[in-house]
Amino acid sequence: MDWGFQNRLHRMFSPVSSNTVMLAVDHGYFMGPTHRLEDARATIAPLVPHADALALTRGILRRCVDASVTTPIVLRVSGGTTILQDDLSHEAITTSMREAVRLNVSAVALSVFVGAPHEHDSLTHLSQLVDEGEEIGMPVVSITAVGKELEKRDARYLALACRVSAELGAHIVKTYYCEGFDKVVDGCPVPLVVAGGPKLDTDRAALELARNAIDQGAHGIDMGRNIWQSDHPVAMLKALRSIVHEKATVREALDVLATEKAHPSARVPAATA
Ligand code: 5RP
Repeated sequence: MDWGFQNRLHRMFSPVSSNTVMLAVDHGYFMGPTHRLEDARATIAPLVPHADALALTRGILRRCVDASVTTPIVLRVSGGTTILQDDLSHEAITTSMREAVRLNVSAVALSVFVGAPHEHDSLTHLSQLVDEGEEIGMPVVSITAVGKELEKRDARYLALACRVSAELGAHIVKTYYCEGFDKVVDGCPVPLVVAGGPKLDTDRAALELARNAIDQGAHGIDMGRNIWQSDHPVAMLKALRSIVHEKATVREALDVLATEKAHPSARVPAATA
């Protein structure tokens, strides 16, 4: 791949750990004003300095993130349905590659819905984005969406969705951690990053998820709700960084969390508490 493509990738992944901590704040594109992301600007601002990349839509990027921010952007370019529909897989490409370049983003991302009614459309959209992205040097992230069927987060299903994404040319695949995750990694020849899914009962559970995913071969996380729905989002993000980049154990990450909780910047902004 050309210099521009490589440079975009290198901006997101640490040269030391080879991993990345992406902050996902794209939920509103089909979920609306998600809890603690209602005021996206207030949620995002304190977290941006501690993220290796920010995953969001063009609307939130333009309205809620200052153009002075230098954090790499992963631009969601698929959408077109909402949680009011039973079938969440009916997505189209909603943002052009030209727009992605104009916004100076580091990658574009779309959801693929393997096994869903619009599987074919989402997979051919991925192929189309890869063609366009490779022409201009833009990495493409395939998000293996499970829609409302959270039980789809098992190794056989995710291994299929991740492998198909890689076969169609995705440069990075975002998926879920699951039992037997090493099998998902083994079958996917491009870097995997894991989402957190709905908020877990404890911060420890989210840290364990990240630790297990990295141990089994993930190249990082692309996490949202378990960070910004935490009572201490900045502290949580820093604790996750210690796992992803510094090989911290869950115990050590919990120590980071406890230390960082003492900082005023670690607390949830009053407007979103
Ligand atoms: C929304 C997404 C999210 O970016 C992804 O699910 C990661 O966020 P979370 O950790 O909250 O699951 O793709 O469609």
